[in-house]
Amino acid sequence: MSASAKRLAVDGGAPVRTTPWPTYDKGDALLNADDQAAIARALGSRRLFRYDTRRYEETETGQLELELARAFDVPYALACSSGTAAIALGLMGAGLRPGDRVACPAFTFSATPSAILLAGGVPVLVDVDDDLHFDLADLERKLTPELKAVVVVHMRGFASQIDRIAEFCRAKRLILVEDAVPSCGASLGGKHLGTFGDAGAFSTQSDKSINTGEGGFVLFHDEQHLARAAVLAGAYEGRIHHHVAHTAFDPLSLPLFNFRLDEIRAALARTQLARLDDKVRRHHAVYNEVAQRLAALGNIRVRQQVAPNDGFLGECVNFWVEGADMATTQWLVCALRAEGIEARQLGDPGDINIRCFWHWRFLWPQERAEVTMTRAPNAARHLATAIDVPLAACLTAADRDDLIDAVGKVCAAHKRTMGVAA
Ligand SMILES: Cc1ncc(COP(=O)(O)O)c(C=O)c1O
Repeated sequence: MSASAKRLAVDGGAPVRTTPWPTYDKGDALLNADDQAAIARALGSRRLFRYDTRRYEETETGQLELELARAFDVPYALACSSGTAAIALGLMGAGLRPGDRVACPAFTFSATPSAILLAGGVPVLVDVDDDLHFDLADLERKLTPELKAVVVVHMRGFASQIDRIAEFCRAKRLILVEDAVPSCGASLGGKHLGTFGDAGAFSTQSDKSINTGEGGFVLFHDEQHLARAAVLAGAYEGRIHHHVAHTAFDPLSLPLFNFRLDEIRAALARTQLARLDDKVRRHHAVYNEVAQRLAALGNIRVRQQVAPNDGFLGECVNFWVEGADMATTQWLVCALRAEGIEARQLGDPGDINIRCFWHWRFLWPQERAEVTMTRAPNAARHLATAIDVPLAACLTAADRDDLIDAVGKVCAAHKRTMGVAA
């Protein structure tokens, strides 16, 4: 009997798989002896704080920043404590002032608008297109004299149309920060995501391409932007001279937020940076196969990239089942989970997903979710029925077969109940 004709697990049939679906690395899958050696090296130095009597180049954190700048082909990098801190440092370093309005997309992790608040900005929501990418036309509509900056997010590893957005921001003199947290290692047209704007923010939290448990970094093109961010991040009492010879501002004019990275995590980030290209190649291979096979099932619309076979990491796949409304998608996802695939419906009302803007109640405390949804109607519509499946870089051929079998089986059952020939 073909997989598709079998009884669904949700109806008591045998599931496609019984082993847990591999999610992101969650700290173990791609760690190796080099990582252990790096941590032992940092510990062995007995110096765990980045600023001490050593020269910048003698510290793990200093070396990491030099290696990041080389790897991403930018002049400056600053290691920091998280991706959220990296976005805030990018904005403040590039000159955001308290009270400035900052555009951000309606489809992102709630850390993005949170980072804008952290930097003293006021988030302004921008809608997304049918493939959940930042909608430049909506940004143009939201442009006001108070809008001073834009945070673009390469959400779920997919590039936004960052080249066009960067051109727009340059023309309108808007600060542009890329939240490249979900897309570390991906590029568009041969240029790394996170290097198109004034600053590019990254996380090294466990789910990300470089995994140090917690951590982050921010890339800059301008020396004084880097200098401001370094002071804000905790280069106090002359420590800024580890980064730059001169500052064009009084370092005491800036508050001290202490978003520094420590030497142990910096050592770990260095070994993983050396393996980043390899990890991206694995992600690409997994994603390309899965996306092609899903599309071949017939009634699936896979999220499109902004350029053919470019601008993606491949850490997850997003797709829609044609004709499926919110309730049907809820059923499809429930059936997929019963088959052993860790799928989520992004806009499932019964499963709060903080990547959906109507859950950001810290921005609109008095507003009902149905009213908030009208702030970005296209995002609300497409998130409601979007299915999200994480694709770890370590997925095996058997895992990939299971995913396709499970989606095929569930969609075939859905077609049968809709009275359409499978
Ligand atoms: C799009 C996005 N931005 C920012 C962050 C925040 O990163 P961190 O957890 O390192 O602060 C995340 C976390 O996953 C994210 O997905």
